[in-house]
Amino acid sequence: MTKLEDIQNVCLRRGIVFPTAEIYPNISGFFDYGTIGTLIKRKLIEYWREFFVKNENNIVEIDGSTVLPENVFKASGHLKGFVDPITQCKKCKSIYRADHLIEEKTKKFVEGKSEKELTSIIKKEKIRCPKCNGELGNVRIFNLMLKTEISPIGGQTAYLRPETAQNIFTSFQRVFRTARLKLPCGIAQIGHSFRNEISPRHFLVRVREFNQMEIEWFFDPEDDKCPEFDKIKDKEIIILTREAQMKNKKEIKITAEKAVKRKILPNKWMAYFLVKEFEFYKSLGIPEHALRFRHMLLEETPHYSKGNFDLEIKFDFGWKETIGNSFRTDYDLRNHMKYSKQDLTIRTDDGKKIIPNVIEPSFGVERTLAAVLLYNFKDEKERGWAWFKFPVKIAPYISAIFPLVNKDKLPEKARKVFEKLKGKFDVFYDESGSIGRRYARADEIGIPFAVTIDYQTLEDNTVTIRNRDTKKQIRIPIDDLKEFFERILFI
Ligand code: GAP
Repeated sequence: MTKLEDIQNVCLRRGIVFPTAEIYPNISGFFDYGTIGTLIKRKLIEYWREFFVKNENNIVEIDGSTVLPENVFKASGHLKGFVDPITQCKKCKSIYRADHLIEEKTKKFVEGKSEKELTSIIKKEKIRCPKCNGELGNVRIFNLMLKTEISPIGGQTAYLRPETAQNIFTSFQRVFRTARLKLPCGIAQIGHSFRNEISPRHFLVRVREFNQMEIEWFFDPEDDKCPEFDKIKDKEIIILTREAQMKNKKEIKITAEKAVKRKILPNKWMAYFLVKEFEFYKSLGIPEHALRFRHMLLEETPHYSKGNFDLEIKFDFGWKETIGNSFRTDYDLRNHMKYSKQDLTIRTDDGKKIIPNVIEPSFGVERTLAAVLLYNFKDEKERGWAWFKFPVKIAPYISAIFPLVNKDKLPEKARKVFEKLKGKFDVFYDESGSIGRRYARADEIGIPFAVTIDYQTLEDNTVTIRNRDTKKQIRIPIDDLKEFFERILFI
């Protein structure tokens, strides 16, 4: 069993994340979040907002509909270009992503090849159905968008959005005007996206419904000055260049400034976002050696992009893109102008009429969570129970509250402490079982602190606080608890 599979089982047992509608026959690629999972997901999103929106200049948020009319995807190119090649077994009818199957069997990289080429590789390499060894059919193209019909009598085709980005482009003019934005500026959006993935797998890594946290960063194509660049120019990131991939070489560690000077990165804005992303993921407990930015090869670059530097994370099954960083240029706005016949240009301060260029960092919440679970998981060897070392910002609860024993007025006192804290912080009350077992239960869901009310509390109103990671305890007055947790959470 891989570590990620082990973690998936832990999540199931502790009700963190589990398959959707699991009491019915399985539909793969959909997951529900339980109590702990919901708290962690919300906190991750809020932490992202703090990091990429609230603490930045010139960026606003929107929250758009998940259902969009067909014309949007004609303009964006998704109707034609958002496709995967599939092949079906003639005997058992199983369906496979043709390029992935070929890559698995031959170790050759075939992304971007035509249906005809993939069919001939399958024949030449004698690739058969992995399940029943049956013959595989000709490769054909399959659109990944989930289609729906609007109105009771139908006739109006719409799609569940495959990316949150399109709401930002279609509402760009209105948001730009009403939020009184000026270039350079960003519009961010967090929300659900849907893709009819052919083979969902690796727990939360490839699913059919997921959440994205996206920023469309608009700037003047003739002026890509980045006022924030000085703050990050000396910070280092790890990049796997196109050249390195073609020559089988390793990643390089390089400062943002050098990466722009040597034209490894297309501009300072791209460099700025990559540095921020590197810092963000490190702060989530993902080690540097498991992070890299890969310059996508030409043949795998999305149809809308002039270059992608995707943040990849090393999972136990291999490297996987977790943020798509795309240089979308004016592709989307230009096409929406063409299809909608609306003017989406804006005027710069010096009166120029332009279509802005766009850098797009597109984060996946589920893939980020999968990586956070993987790298913060501690197996049973060390403590006798498996636990999570979640960073405080995204831990489901900041603290557990326990009475030392379940008698002698300690539970009543502990409840009072709980009541005092719960409006302001996510705290968790537990009085069942031994105190040792309760510490273990708190560790198991990654609670960073445990406050214990003991006999001394009844005398001097102080409590102990146990640190999950060091297991060390300190004693502080109940009256100081609020400030203690505020300091820990920087609020
Ligand atoms: N707007 C650009 C865009 O959607 P993408 O590279 O297709 O770009 C961005 O997706 C991110 O969304 C990915 O890096 C990943 O984290 C997440 N994502 C995409 N498909 C996913 C899937 N099937 N399951 C889970 N996350 C997915």
